[in-house]
Amino acid sequence: MRAKTPRESRTVMTDLVLPSETNPLNNLFGGELLARMDRAASIAARRHSRRITVTASVNHVAFNRAVPLGSVVTVEAAVSRAFTTSMEIFIDVWIEDRFTGERTKANEAIYTFVAVDDTGKPTEVPLLEPETDLEKERFAAALRRKQLSLVLAGKLKPSDATELKALFMS
Ligand SMILES: CC(C)(COP(=O)(O)OP(=O)(O)OC[C@H]1O[C@@H](n2cnc3c(N)ncnc32)[C@H](O)[C@@H]1OP(=O)(O)O)[C@@H](O)C(=O)NCCC(=O)NCCS
Repeated sequence: MRAKTPRESRTVMTDLVLPSETNPLNNLFGGELLARMDRAASIAARRHSRRITVTASVNHVAFNRAVPLGSVVTVEAAVSRAFTTSMEIFIDVWIEDRFTGERTKANEAIYTFVAVDDTGKPTEVPLLEPETDLEKERFAAALRRKQLSLVLAGKLKPSDATELKALFMS
């Protein structure tokens, strides 16, 4: 299988925040943003693997900034590392200033998707070759995040989490 770059899976989705999608403070409801991020990440995972993909875990979400009613929100997702059957997807969320058009980073998230066959069995995905400095940084830290996610899910013994141990021992 040919290795792919993050560029090949990059998925950009832009949409408005409508009244039915807000909380009582007139900001975007967190669950709505999670759904938008899941959709963009799912497309990125599919573009990388060209398989059916399912969300295996949400590894990290930071709602750093509220997103007000009427905002133009852009969700950008790309595969940050591919393992055997799983892919880490990094998602950046931007809001656009109404007058200047300037974009500000509002939130980010990291999801794990698994490629599966028609019976739901995990299946192999192409490797990822990062190109930019940011892509290389995200790629390098992804194994640590995968091990942390597996430890928290009870699927990996902490004693086998080599990358995590290296982080705390150094
Ligand atoms: C995700 C799913 C396919 C994993 O199946 P599984 O039997 O655990 O399969 P495996 O143990 O072989 O794991 C498959 C891959 O997922 C990874 N994985 C599983 N759970 C994970 C977690 N919590 N965090 C990170 N990676 C995880 C494994 O490390 C493995 O990756 P690798 O092959 O790249 O090394 C299965 O749990 C599933 O179908 N879940 C439901 C998915 C779904 O419906 N999502 C929508 C939400 S409603």
